[in-house]
Amino acid sequence: MTYSKIKGIGSYLPETIMTNADLEKIVDTSDEWIMKRVGVRERHLVAQSSDTTASMAAEAAKRALESANITANDVEMIVVGTASADYNFPSAACVVQQKLGIDNECPAFDLNAACAGFIYALSVVDQYIRNGIVKTALVIGVDALSKVVDWKDRTTCVLFGDGAGAVVLQADESPGVITTHIQAAGEYAELLYCRSSLWNDENANVLQMKGREVFRIAVTKLGDVVDQTLEKANMDKSQIDWLVPHQANIRIIQAAAKRLNLPMERVILSVERHANTSAASIPLALDEAVTKGIIKRGDVLMFDAFGAGLVWGAALVKY
Ligand code: ACO
Repeated sequence: MTYSKIKGIGSYLPETIMTNADLEKIVDTSDEWIMKRVGVRERHLVAQSSDTTASMAAEAAKRALESANITANDVEMIVVGTASADYNFPSAACVVQQKLGIDNECPAFDLNAACAGFIYALSVVDQYIRNGIVKTALVIGVDALSKVVDWKDRTTCVLFGDGAGAVVLQADESPGVITTHIQAAGEYAELLYCRSSLWNDENANVLQMKGREVFRIAVTKLGDVVDQTLEKANMDKSQIDWLVPHQANIRIIQAAAKRLNLPMERVILSVERHANTSAASIPLALDEAVTKGIIKRGDVLMFDAFGAGLVWGAALVKY
């Protein structure tokens, strides 16, 4: 049996940090409200830097390749989960391929599942590896939603940050990715969206969200999807060592942990320092936890995420 195993991890955060105190100067909000309702203290933003979605993705990928100790041309597939690519086309994945100097003509494409982009991308690449088509792949989650946030709307602008995270997945005889489970419900598309510039109106490229409704559905669907994922793997909650959740809101994370009977000490948290970095949030949190020695080889991890679509998903992974 062939599994895909995480052989390397890397991440990248832009240098500029915006604190809640900075936000208090531009919208009617407070550190107290943001900490209590969301759990965010600060976020990294691409701001005026030369960082782009693709450059952040390429840097995270470069670090993941180094940590896996492989060369760029060993990569046989690049999938980038993103909802904020720099171009309508080419894909961010092709720009990453160029930036890394990969000239082996491996397939490279983006996958838009908003904040669930990393889990969706992991799920797709896992199939290619399990089926023996690909041996080594880059799975990247990256977003720069600060570019599409309305900085006058206090209900959304306090929530997001920018960044990138990447893993090298490689074929291995032992797990690895145990299973993934991804779902979508387009009926909720209007709850969270960002029109492209093709719309040519004032709302183009501006994130719109009905936060309360998204919150309610997210809590239910995340609870269900972790149960379904465990069932698919024929595993029990008690076998999970760490929950590595999408970092949207501390209250959503607490609800998911409760459903899994996991104490918060077993949950990897970065929401306070990164905010919601969309598709980047899981690999960013994972990279930090691995670098700090919190997550160790052999630990069983549950990833869960939801986002615009609405889409949601989970992955069970033996690190
Ligand atoms: N500062 C101060 N007050 C605020 C702020 C703010 N930044 N934002 C809203 N408020 C006010 C509201 O106006 C409201 O005031 P009112 O009672 O006088 O009307 C009050 O706070 C409560 O507002 P709610 O919207 O009910 O607050 P809620 O507890 O639902 O928190 C939040 C809002 C944080 C957005 C929450 O609903 C949430 O996290 N939703 C999920 C969002 C999410 O995770 N989306 C993820 C996917 S992103 C992607 O896929 C791209």
